[in-house]
Amino acid sequence: MLRLDKFLADVGVGTRSEVKKLLKQGLVTINGQTVRDSSTKVNPETDKVTFKGQELLYQEFRYYMLNKPAGCVSATKDGLSQTVIEFLKGEPTRDLFPVGRLDKDTEGLLLITNDGMLAHNLLSPKKHVDKTYIAYVNKPLDDEQLGLFKTGLDIGDETPTLPAEIDEASEQDITKNLEKASISKDIISYSAVYNVVLKEGRYHQIKRMFEHFNSTVVYLKRLSMGNLKLDSQLLPGSYRPLTLEEISSLKN
Ligand code: URA
Repeated sequence: MLRLDKFLADVGVGTRSEVKKLLKQGLVTINGQTVRDSSTKVNPETDKVTFKGQELLYQEFRYYMLNKPAGCVSATKDGLSQTVIEFLKGEPTRDLFPVGRLDKDTEGLLLITNDGMLAHNLLSPKKHVDKTYIAYVNKPLDDEQLGLFKTGLDIGDETPTLPAEIDEASEQDITKNLEKASISKDIISYSAVYNVVLKEGRYHQIKRMFEHFNSTVVYLKRLSMGNLKLDSQLLPGSYRPLTLEEISSLKN
């Protein structure tokens, strides 16, 4: 048995506080009866729960997006630093893990789940899932360097990087992302900003690709992974469950 608000949050109806409001609006039934009390107990095996008239099937797997702030590590446990899992306050985090890693100073989209198969599919080097970043750097690349960045670079690994996309970021994107950064924008001293799309995820990859041209990444944020985009409403350090649409789009 589990609480109704947890059941609804786990299946992606909304956060616990959103779910409370939806319950008050009388949008949820258990076995045909409207239920407004979020502490009502549900047996996912035998009870029929509906939201807006649609039956909800309890899912074993849970999926959250975190807007990772700088200063925490993409791990489940760490003796010294705060972990990304610690931001999911009030959730049952025991079996959750981040899908891939962002560097300690990188911000932005991090998928957190207990679904090992999905994580494997998103991270498998063979699947070439797109990861989009905005990178603020201290030295612009010239046209020739941009061409090389797109073709693939020897950054000291066994094989060159796969072809990547790189474009100058728009003024709007530059300002919007800087305004929302968790570190003070005054210390981000940049001279060019790029949107970069990678089809792989090597250690410090973007930083090493720019460093190849003696350009240093001063601020890095991930904006999307596969079909999943960072919710622009999420402040650094905030998270929300994925919607049902987002979950199914990640599996396609
Ligand atoms: N590339 C990096 O250099 N760091 C990240 O965190 C992600 C991609």
